Amino acid sequence: MDVEALNQELAKASPREILKTALEQYEQIAISFSGAEDVALIAMASSLKVPFKVFTLDTGRLHPETYRFIDRVREHYGLDIEILFPDTQAVQDLVSRKGLFSFYRDGHEECCGIRKVEPLRRKLSTLDAWITGQRHDQSPTRTDVPVVQEDTAFEGRNGPLVKFNPMANWSSKDVWDYIRMMDVPYNELHEKGFISIGCEPCTRAVLPGQHEREGRWWWEESTQKECGLHADNLIARD
Ligand code: ADX
Ligand code: SF4
Repeated sequence: MDVEALNQELAKASPREILKTALEQYEQIAISFSGAEDVALIAMASSLKVPFKVFTLDTGRLHPETYRFIDRVREHYGLDIEILFPDTQAVQDLVSRKGLFSFYRDGHEECCGIRKVEPLRRKLSTLDAWITGQRHDQSPTRTDVPVVQEDTAFEGRNGPLVKFNPMANWSSKDVWDYIRMMDVPYNELHEKGFISIGCEPCTRAVLPGQHEREGRWWWEESTQKECGLHADNLIARD
């Protein structure tokens, strides 16, 4: 597969077309769902009437609203959502050594590494490609994200791994217009001032005019705000 050629071909395609191509090209592929507005990807995939798989990383620290929402999506679309958990021993060691909130002091990498990145690595090692809800306007680290790319941070079951970002060119407004127009269920936190949603201790609501990323790891520098799931965005900028 010539990933760059496919990226060029799909550069101006709609998210739905990109998603359709992704699901047609790869059998071992799955949507990575965070429990936020990336539900739009699930709604689109469901409208394509082709089989698709979804997984989510349960860090153990999500908001109650997010847990309820993930289950609502499962029921609404009649899906099996694979819920991935971190390694018990690794979490126990971390919280025994450093307590439950070490990220405020030591930065989020260590906790994200255990609760998100390792389970993701495990899952991706069974796939050939994955689909994310990344967009250019989500973060200063994502302005150049292509719609299709080789994932340089992880490996698939046969080595190279392809990453599809069907909504890369969509704005937050585009996503929300789609959610409203298609009557897609959404996380109730969005009604409480949250835009970007991650783990409860590391996400907060933003004020009018603030960038959505300011609600994530707000004690850290904005150009470094990747938790490791999309570390290739930082590699690409080095
Ligand atoms: S993060 O890396 O900063 O946490 P963000 O919340 O912006 O990511 O979401 C971007 C995309 O990353 C989501 O649309 C989804 O594809 C993937 N993602 C983020 N968090 C999770 C999660 N907990 N489970 C599965 N996928 C996730
Ligand atoms: Fe840990 Fe916060 Fe990362 Fe969640 S976002 S895994 S709580 S550091």
